[in-house]
Amino acid sequence: MSNELTWKGYAVHDTAKWEDFKLIDIKPKPRGEYDVDIKIEYCGVCGSDVHTITGGWGPPHLPVIVGHEIAGTAAWVGPKVTGIKVGDRVGVGAQICSCLECKMCKTNNEQYCQKHVTFTYNSVYPESGTITTGGYSSAIRSHERFVFPIPDALELEHAAPMLCGGVTVYSPLVRNGAGPGKRVGVVGIGGLGHFAIQFAKGLGCEEVVAFSHSSRKKEDAIKLGATQFVETGKKGFEEALHASLDLIICTANVAPGIAMSELLSTLAPGGKFVMVAIPEEQVPIPSRDLVVRGISFGGSLLGSKKEALEMLQLAAAKGIKPWIEIMPMKDCGKAVRAVKDGNVRYRHVLKQDIPR
Ligand SMILES: NC(=O)c1ccc[n+]([C@@H]2O[C@H](COP(=O)([O-])OP(=O)(O)OC[C@H]3O[C@@H](n4cnc5c(N)ncnc54)[C@H](OP(=O)(O)O)[C@@H]3O)[C@@H](O)[C@H]2O)c1
Ligand SMILES: [Zn+2]
Ligand SMILES: [Zn+2]
Repeated sequence: MSNELTWKGYAVHDTAKWEDFKLIDIKPKPRGEYDVDIKIEYCGVCGSDVHTITGGWGPPHLPVIVGHEIAGTAAWVGPKVTGIKVGDRVGVGAQICSCLECKMCKTNNEQYCQKHVTFTYNSVYPESGTITTGGYSSAIRSHERFVFPIPDALELEHAAPMLCGGVTVYSPLVRNGAGPGKRVGVVGIGGLGHFAIQFAKGLGCEEVVAFSHSSRKKEDAIKLGATQFVETGKKGFEEALHASLDLIICTANVAPGIAMSELLSTLAPGGKFVMVAIPEEQVPIPSRDLVVRGISFGGSLLGSKKEALEMLQLAAAKGIKPWIEIMPMKDCGKAVRAVKDGNVRYRHVLKQDIPR
């Protein structure tokens, strides 16, 4: 395999035809001294890809190439890059640049950069004005800060979905004390939720309760490491868990219609509810339930590089792997349809097929 890069990707041209991907040429931003060019081998399919191509989060820059769970090999590194060498197995998640100078960037909170977060796709590079393009493609250019070396113990296809889906739940778990003696709930057992169960277990939590809107995923949730499965579609589902959990991570891609008061009632006073899902309608916050129960309601975006590297080490040490279905990248239309229809167990991963 040569290290010459081809720059092509599968793009959506019209949000009304979001399953219709066409292979187009990409013009990447000019190379920077700290940039790394990655030859993409695999890319996971995240719920956020679907919100973007359908226009559910607002009109994207068209044509749009999505995908932000990327794994491959470093093909070129800029003269000031220190942590990555050509040939290294590396990955990129949902962010490829930030200012690197603000308080957030300097305290391992670069996903909350106060000046400019450059997302992996559908984002504007501040210097060049180039629109970023994601991983349903042959190659990506990223600042080295957002390039993660992948431990040898992890296969590239397993590491890829961890770089958005995994770290997005790992970060709020560790920031909110998930570990021995803690009782954690995970709402929504999709791509993110199936990681949250595994990481909560891997971090040593005492209880990991899986909340799912139907009974269909019960067996899977237990296999993933849940100590209990609760069907939120059933009236009174919350009663047996009253005031017992320390933390809930919510990945359910639904609003309104989420049983928020009932879910909050399962938290002990002082407990925390952390929203990571970004449904297309805002979730109403039941403030009275928070007040009378002494509960904090928060949100969480992606994770820092520090957390991503810790997560990869934990996954390597504990043998944590996503449950994936691999398909050729040209089938990205089928993959996004399956996510939209809730038919994925639990992540689709696209395998490179662009001639190069
Ligand atoms: N905060 C961040 O940084 C960040 C990062 C990545 C993704 N996200 C967002 O997180 C969300 C989940 O992403 P994902 O990739 O995990 O998606 P996913 O695989 O589609 O999982 C979403 C889960 O939500 C639940 N759900 C979906 N439709 C529902 C409905 N009508 N009623 C009740 N429950 C429903 C389902 O769980 P059950 O069947 O178990 O109920 C489903 O498995 C998306 O909104 C995505 O944009 C946020
Ligand atoms: Zn994502
Ligand atoms: Zn910053």
